[in-house]
This record gives sequence, structure tokens and C-alpha cells, in this order.
Amino acid sequence: MELLKRLSASGRRLLLGVVVTAFAVVASACDTNVGPQDYLSPEGPVARKADGLWDLTFGIAVAIFVIVEALLVYTIIRFRRRPGREAAQFHGNTKLEVILTLIPTLILAGLAVPTVKAIADLSDKPEGALNVTVTAKQFWWQYEYPDAGVVTANEMHVPTGQPVYLTLEGADVIHSFWIPKLTGKQDVVPGRKNNMYFVADRPGTYWGQCTEFCGLSHANMRLRVIAQEPADFEQWLAEQQEPAAGTVSGAAAQGQEIFMGTCVNCHAIGGTEARGTTGPDLTHFASRETFAGSMFRNTPDNLKRWIDNPPGVKPGAQMPDYGLSAQEIDAVVAFLQTLK
Ligand code: CUA
Repeated sequence: MELLKRLSASGRRLLLGVVVTAFAVVASACDTNVGPQDYLSPEGPVARKADGLWDLTFGIAVAIFVIVEALLVYTIIRFRRRPGREAAQFHGNTKLEVILTLIPTLILAGLAVPTVKAIADLSDKPEGALNVTVTAKQFWWQYEYPDAGVVTANEMHVPTGQPVYLTLEGADVIHSFWIPKLTGKQDVVPGRKNNMYFVADRPGTYWGQCTEFCGLSHANMRLRVIAQEPADFEQWLAEQQEPAAGTVSGAAAQGQEIFMGTCVNCHAIGGTEARGTTGPDLTHFASRETFAGSMFRNTPDNLKRWIDNPPGVKPGAQMPDYGLSAQEIDAVVAFLQTLK
């Protein structure tokens, strides 16, 4: 207390700042509620490998920080200027400078070994992988399962325990594909085919998103990976291979008519005349939990708001506002809901 009183006002403010910062740093470590995109809690072997490298690098960095700061504080106090003595100078000490250059060089060279090995391990196509072609478009993701002839959007279903080998293709500008809990980032570049793979340990929904600035709705270019037990995945895939539901009636029939006159230019629906490729394939649209780059939950109200004015609810969206009446929009939504 006596010491506190002797500090000046600015000294006390500084001390308070240090204490609050230290408390915040310590308290933040108590947060066990990890977010859906927390890459420090990996859920598959590929993400775990990257996480292992992070743990190693972080451990070494912490050790270096503690040693360097301790030496710094010791040196400042021990060799400071005192009455009758100049502060000590170490400049020009060749031996010390060589040692201080060699140590970081050796540490970095040592870290490069496991890093390069991990990159090499992850660059080969694994045995028995499921092929998925990912196409990034402003501002959503298309997934094609070439061996099954299935195309879907934004939500990628995968089986647990099996490697999923991605071929990433860009349609317009550079995007970057990232599922933090399952794998690292990979740029998606127009005119190039990039590859990566991941494995999901357990069933669940894993969040991801575009991580390369790609336009107005970059932040709204999200995605989901839905990992299922192999049998459930096979069932999903079989359902996706079916053409869309056949005849519809009532409002849905009117919606279908509007769809086939307007939306058909950009969207495809399997088993119908709709074969547009600019927008997402909507064959089994009603089976998806989200839409528009996984930005909205797939509910009738959200669909109505979306169709009424796409760029109004998602900046930069490529789908135009067709000026449909509220009644026409209701009909189109009724039709979309039949696409189970
Ligand atoms: Cu696509 Cu950012």
C-alpha cells in the first residue's frame, strides 16, 4: 500500500492496465465453450496433424519468450547505470552475436523437418477416398460427387472414417476453402485444380467458410460439412441420385410454372427441363438445412425474403430480383418445398 501511494497517477494507471490485461489473458483460457470453427479442437486426423505442429511451435515459442524476457529483465537490472558506473554495452561482441544467430537458425531448421514432412504426408491422394469436386462461386459452394452423378450446394455430406479427396475449382475469382475442425485452408483459383483431403472422425455438422476476400458477400460465403455414418451417407447419396419429385398441384404447380419460365435460366432440377448451371442445382433443395452460401436457414419465411430481393438480403448476390408479386413468391416457395 505504501508503495502504491508512492507511485504517480500515471504509474498507477499503468499498473492497473497491466493487472487487467494479465487477468483477461488468464481468464480467456477458462473458456471451455469452443466455437464451431475452433481449429484448436480438431475432429479428424488431417486437422490433428496441423494442430500437432501448432502445439509444438507454440510450446517452443513460449519457452523462448520466457527465457528471453527473464534474461532481458535480469540484464536491465544487473547492468543498469548506477551512480559512478556506466550501463554495460554488449555491442560488438562477435562470439555472442554468432551464438544468438545460430540458435534461432537451428530452431527454425528443426521446426521445418516435421512441417515439411506433414505437408508431404498430406499431399498424396489417400487410398479408398471419396471424390468430391468443389466449385467456388460468388458467393456459394457447389459440390459434385462425380462417381455418383450427384450435384448439390453449400452442404457437403461425407461418410465418417473415409478420406474425402477434394478437387477445388474456381469459377470467377479467387476463394479459399476452409473447414477449421477438419482441415486447413486451400485457395480456390480459377483455371487451376487444387487438391486436399480430410477425414471426419465422428458424425456431426462442421462449419466452414471462404477465407479469401472475394467480394461484397465474402463473409456470407459459408458452408457446412455434414458427416454421417457410412450407411446413412450411402442412403443420402442414393436419395440424391433420384430425380426430383414428379407432379405437383395447387400453389406448387403455379410455382413450378414460374420456375420453369424464369429461374430455369440459372438453376437445374434433375429429371426436368431445368438445366441452368449458373446458380445452385436445386434438385433436392428441400432436403438442405441452409441456402445462399449457408447464410440462411431453409425456412419458408427466409426463402420469401430471399426471392423478393436477393441482393437486398445478401450484398452482391448474383441472383436478381425478378419483381415477382408476393403471391407469386409464395407459389415458388411452395414449389421449392416439394423438392425433397
Ligand atoms: Cu469466396 Cu471469400
